[in-house]
Amino acid sequence: MQYIDVQVSLNLKQKPNDESKLGFGAIFTDHMFMCDYTKGKGWHDARIVPYGSFQVDPSCVVLHYSQSIFEGLKCYRRQDGGIQLFRPKDNFARMNRSAKRMGMPELDIDTFMEGLLQLLRLDKDWVPHNPGTSLYIRPTLIATDNMLGVHASHSYLFYIILSPVGAYYSGGLAPNDIYVEDEYVRAVRGGIGETKAGANYAASLLAGVYAEKKGFAQVLWLDGVEQRYVEEVGSMNIMFAYGNKVVTPKLSGSILPGITRDSVLKLAKHLGYETVEERLDIYDVLEDIQSGKLTESFGTGTAAVISPVKSFYYQDRSYQIGDGGIGPVAQKLYDTLTGIQYGIVEDILGWITEV
Ligand code: COI
Repeated sequence: MQYIDVQVSLNLKQKPNDESKLGFGAIFTDHMFMCDYTKGKGWHDARIVPYGSFQVDPSCVVLHYSQSIFEGLKCYRRQDGGIQLFRPKDNFARMNRSAKRMGMPELDIDTFMEGLLQLLRLDKDWVPHNPGTSLYIRPTLIATDNMLGVHASHSYLFYIILSPVGAYYSGGLAPNDIYVEDEYVRAVRGGIGETKAGANYAASLLAGVYAEKKGFAQVLWLDGVEQRYVEEVGSMNIMFAYGNKVVTPKLSGSILPGITRDSVLKLAKHLGYETVEERLDIYDVLEDIQSGKLTESFGTGTAAVISPVKSFYYQDRSYQIGDGGIGPVAQKLYDTLTGIQYGIVEDILGWITEV
């Protein structure tokens, strides 16, 4: 593990005074962690510095060819005032898999985990207290060579920034209307869909703009080959409940292996639900909604945790799920998972790291 140099900010910022108004990812704390990579030298210059802009040359690889990946995780305030992380090592492990697929170097996980803990201890007063709030953590890795030739970069910058956040969707747990996207796709077989590459999000934006214009919160993504099999919803994984059975698309290479997805599946099993991962045909899903067999649907992700679906709109028809409200399965999983994250429910599956 590397030595981490710490430069404390002399100009501490004003913290948000009304936590009920925290949005998502617009405010940043006093410090950030950074570390450089140079081919032949490896990772070097691990440091914590005051949060601020940094310079990149206009020819920088990341600006042109999007060699860039990130992660998202949260730090939660417990009722006793302490702070804790949820499955941080799983985020670093996934980031390493993303890095490999994107031709980027393996992370120095020990140094970065220690850097994250030191950064959180320094900025701990930024972890908000209100129910439903947390400190969102954004580890990022970007290519930093200045070069227009299309080639994997030889130098990289890894950094972590922190942002106090409230609910990802302003409506909180309120169920959303979702547009089933039958024109654009998010990812294709053999592509980068299972990585947390910024480019995947870029590919998703236009469909989101059109869906919003039509009055929908987000889109349901179908597979990039047949445009028939369900993959994700917006920037989240998607789940369906058939009574006490929780069903989700099987990881296919083009679906992000969400840590919340994995947590919900494990927790559901622990709570006595049957869980199934399989290829899901949109026509079967819609038929099961109509017949009433499919009783709930919800997205899962770090940012919103669980986001219930009210209806799916596919080729000029709307399919409402049940009475359109929050179902008992989504509610139970949300309460238990957030209970563990905030230290209210016992950490039965060993997911918590004390800061
Ligand atoms: C999540 O739901 O956790 C996401 O990945 C969304 C994030 C990109 C804001």
